[in-house]
Amino acid sequence: MNVRYARCQGAELITEDGRRILDFLSGYCVHNAGHNHPDIVAAVKSELDRNGPGMLQSHVPEMAGTLAQELCRRAGGRLAKALFCSSGSEGVEAAIKFARAHTRRNALLSADGAFHGLTCGALSLMSDPFWSEGFGPMLADVEHVPFGDLEGLAAQLSSRRFAALVLEPIQGEGGIRIPEPSYLKSAQELCRRYGTLLVLDEVQTGLHRTGPFLASHHYAVDPDMVVLAKALSGGLVPTGALLMTDDIYGSVFNSLKRSIVHTSTFGENGLSMRAALATLGVLDREHLGEQSASLGAVLRDRLRARLSGYEMVKEVRGMGLMNGIEFAPPRRMALRLGFESFKAIHAGMFGQIVVMRLFRDHGVLTQMCGNNFMVLKAAPPLVVDEAQIDTFVEAMGAVVELMHTSASFWTEAIGLARRVVNI
Ligand SMILES: Cc1ncc(COP(=O)(O)O)c(C=O)c1O
Repeated sequence: MNVRYARCQGAELITEDGRRILDFLSGYCVHNAGHNHPDIVAAVKSELDRNGPGMLQSHVPEMAGTLAQELCRRAGGRLAKALFCSSGSEGVEAAIKFARAHTRRNALLSADGAFHGLTCGALSLMSDPFWSEGFGPMLADVEHVPFGDLEGLAAQLSSRRFAALVLEPIQGEGGIRIPEPSYLKSAQELCRRYGTLLVLDEVQTGLHRTGPFLASHHYAVDPDMVVLAKALSGGLVPTGALLMTDDIYGSVFNSLKRSIVHTSTFGENGLSMRAALATLGVLDREHLGEQSASLGAVLRDRLRARLSGYEMVKEVRGMGLMNGIEFAPPRRMALRLGFESFKAIHAGMFGQIVVMRLFRDHGVLTQMCGNNFMVLKAAPPLVVDEAQIDTFVEAMGAVVELMHTSASFWTEAIGLARRVVNI
């Protein structure tokens, strides 16, 4: 993966030596509008050129108001206020604090396999110890329930001690896990019954990644808070936002004295606000939500057709252009040997060899999910076209064919794997 990039545009990355790499990762769902979209670049440049007020921390940054309005209008429901920050983790941290302030409870609930960010509070919501090991005690009073399990959820919530249930509507790093259609709505009902706020982490799924503006729009839920980041920046300026109801906002900023109890220096900076407003404009004008929905269906159909019949391909699934290809351990002895040797070296090794093959042999960039090493992501910028989808499908087909038929896929990879483990 160690190449020098000269230029990135749309869904393509061009290396210094002239190779074209097709991006099917989008920086983990940052580049929804495509790399360096000219309208977003122009907006950022013009913001710099205007020499306007920036980070004075003592004026009314109008653009933040406009962006808040635009985001809340698109998100809908009772979401009426926005708090700006610079990353997804920071948005999750704010959600934790605001939920605690509003409910006057401390405990937090999240789902197994979730990814919410690597700052201490967000990290505490993640069940996989891989991420937290060595970093000292996490937040107390955090519980995890299996994603999609309403019974377990009801049992926990009925204790009435949880400030918030934090969920990704579709788990990204967990393996592109799509819940039953009624899950989120039922979770919301349970939250309301037991006085817990429903916080949806749409850091990956938001901004039309799965079709509609928010993935939760598929499920007609009405969350109390929504976290956005990643694609909100247009891929250019770090930007995050926590959307919330008036009541929650009022619970924190409820007096002049408390009006600065939660702020962030870079939160409402002009470059981020301009980049985000320009990004929303591009997503709307180019109908990238519709494109995500329709091309996502094309991608899944073509992948399923190309990959059917291979024993190591378990499932192709997704929504819009957030898709995963799940692999399964092989049954045939000839393949099992290679697979088990990989696993013995490192649980993630098989996936990294697939990723390396796609990149090196076919000029396709993607990755395995961070909490599920058997699921490969297929999440291109939403500006991807059908020809690029066909290139990806063909590349996948070739790599999957190779892993099922060629000893070299496994032998060459074992050598590489050993070298990697020694680093
Ligand atoms: C669902 C989700 N939430 C939160 C985060 C954290 O975002 P950031 O890396 O911007 O802090 C991520 C990052 O990958 C994410 O995927």
